[in-house]
Amino acid sequence: MPDKQDETPAPGTARCPGESWDDLVRADSIGVPEFLKKESYEYLGSEPLATARYTSPDFFRQEVEKMWPNVWQFAAREEDMPDPGDVVVYENAGRSYLVTRQDDGSVRAFHNVCLHRGRKLRLESGYSKDFKCPFHGFTWNTNGSLKEIPCRWDFGHLTDEKMKLPEARVGRWGGYIFVCENNTGVSLEEYLAPLPEHFKRWKHEDCVTVIHVGKVIRANWKAVSEAFMEAWHSVVTHPQILPFTGDANTFYATWGDNVNLALTPFAVMSPHIDQSAHPQQWIVDEFLKYNGRAGGPDLKVQVPEGETARKAMAAANRKRYQDSTGHDHSHASDAELLDALVYNVFPNFAPWGGFMPNIVYRWRPWPDQDATLMEVRILQRIPPGQKKPRSVPMNLLREDQTWTAATELGTLANVFDQDMANLPYVQDGLKVSKTGQVNLGDYQEIRIRQFHRTLDKYLAAR
Ligand code: FES
Ligand SMILES: [Fe+2]
Repeated sequence: MPDKQDETPAPGTARCPGESWDDLVRADSIGVPEFLKKESYEYLGSEPLATARYTSPDFFRQEVEKMWPNVWQFAAREEDMPDPGDVVVYENAGRSYLVTRQDDGSVRAFHNVCLHRGRKLRLESGYSKDFKCPFHGFTWNTNGSLKEIPCRWDFGHLTDEKMKLPEARVGRWGGYIFVCENNTGVSLEEYLAPLPEHFKRWKHEDCVTVIHVGKVIRANWKAVSEAFMEAWHSVVTHPQILPFTGDANTFYATWGDNVNLALTPFAVMSPHIDQSAHPQQWIVDEFLKYNGRAGGPDLKVQVPEGETARKAMAAANRKRYQDSTGHDHSHASDAELLDALVYNVFPNFAPWGGFMPNIVYRWRPWPDQDATLMEVRILQRIPPGQKKPRSVPMNLLREDQTWTAATELGTLANVFDQDMANLPYVQDGLKVSKTGQVNLGDYQEIRIRQFHRTLDKYLAAR
């Protein structure tokens, strides 16, 4: 008989008892691509994290100085700014950028500050034939070159060359536009790997933003984003989704420093529910009621005798998405038509994979360690050959509004409100913590662990 110590699994090797993610996809009618099956988990230790990482102004200052200027940040979608002269004002962590469409279709990002006496050149996104400072009228072309200095006779010391607007690096992938303040460092492609390889299947460049909602939340930007890095809080925070969510069956993967995934199966019962107590049809009925991307209660799906809810729901979605978008999903796996494939790119960008309308999250400190601007976009696949419409503008909720005020989100809004019912109290708790520590699960919270390890690498750099 092995002694007790031998029976303790090595750290990080324990998984939820019962049916696994592997078992589930083996039973699917069309199986998932290899990269969604292959374990990519590395045990990264079990040490607690200091609460000061979320609450300390000094820690926040270090993030602003050492991390944010050196990472690729999701700044805009292509459809936010399709035409020459279109500008997105992207602001974060003590910087403001004019992300600007050029005449040749390329994109450049300029620091949004007048080089005379420092006024911001623009406050809002929109169209501009040039950037004219509203204070004294210094003006720049949309390619960042100096256009005009009123009373130029008084500025003989300023050359056109010296007065070019400073510029940040721009990278583009999948319909997303990124900026990186620092002009050295890895390319966007290197930074995002292996995400672009995975998303070749889901082609976000064929999608546009059809819903965009934002809200300021009274909690640290990391605490907010981490609430979307694990699925297992569903058991207490989102009980209404348990009938159709394999919360504890979630497959977690990390790749390198920047990319990770939580793949939560839908249209299966939670391992926390007595599986024998309910018929398969119950799973589908609850899924249609409470899964934000499922199509709502008007859609009827019958589970044939002897069939699983998962197969029936996948078949229904396969047909529904093909009919509505004109894209062929005959080879799409059940998982890609049903599940939450929530990718995360360090530090604050989370695009969902799969063929359902894709959710995209972004979190920014707003403006300091105690508050976050959280944005939710829904991307819709555009039928082949159809011209892409512009993005819808962001519906920025007031602080006194709940997410349900954004009726365009449907039942997803209720899920976000449930998350928000925790977050300000997470921040409050972190501030008054006696131990000054938070503890993480070795497997289900591995993405949070990876995130902090990567953050530490930036903070340690000289
Ligand atoms: S501050 Fe911009 S023109 Fe003077
Ligand atoms: Fe949640």
